[in-house]
Amino acid sequence: MGQPNPQTIEISQDVDVSRARQVAKAIAVSVGFDEKVKEEVAIAVSELASNLLRHAKHGHLTLTPLHAAARAGIQVESADGGPGIADVERAMTDGFSTAGSLGCGLGAVNRLMDEFEITTPCRKGGGTRIICRRWVRSPRRAGREGGRASSAGGGCTRARLP
Ligand SMILES: Nc1ncnc2c1ncn2[C@@H]1O[C@H](COP(=O)(O)OP(=O)(O)OP(=O)(O)O)[C@@H](O)[C@H]1O
Ligand SMILES: [Mg+2]
Repeated sequence: MGQPNPQTIEISQDVDVSRARQVAKAIAVSVGFDEKVKEEVAIAVSELASNLLRHAKHGHLTLTPLHAAARAGIQVESADGGPGIADVERAMTDGFSTAGSLGCGLGAVNRLMDEFEITTPCRKGGGTRIICRRWVRSPRRAGREGGRASSAGGGCTRARLP
């Protein structure tokens, strides 16, 4: 049907962040997002890619067009073998940064995407894996204030479930 396949982008330098944005936009258009949501998905992808560079030195993003039963969307997966996140709860809080930055990236991704799950092993150096999804027409999104999160799976995983 001409839909792009899942695409994995290695993120190890600034130019890779731009490339990931472009791929995300292409997939967003292909699954039917409007201009506004396309930009929101691109922002989320930029934040995750920037985090790979800044906090893990390098990693990769896998961007996947989704065609579930009666809906379409995009999945963004970020994975790295960096130091991991010692306190996921704090890392998700706006204003917390170990890099002297604004500390709003992960919170923004959580708000911009419909589903968000972050997994990092309790042991240091185990890396970080984040999977998030945005749907073209999300029934949840219509009525929510944004950014509602719930914990799942113990202290090292935080998820906002659909
Ligand atoms: N891939 C990662 N590996 C290790 N730590 C991470 C990773 N992503 C985020 N973090 C941790 O979570 C914190 C919060 O991330 P967040 O993106 O919200 O803020 P930031 O990157 O510090 O600043 P900015 O607002 O510029 O994005 C980071 O400061 C860092 O400690
Ligand atoms: Mg960040």
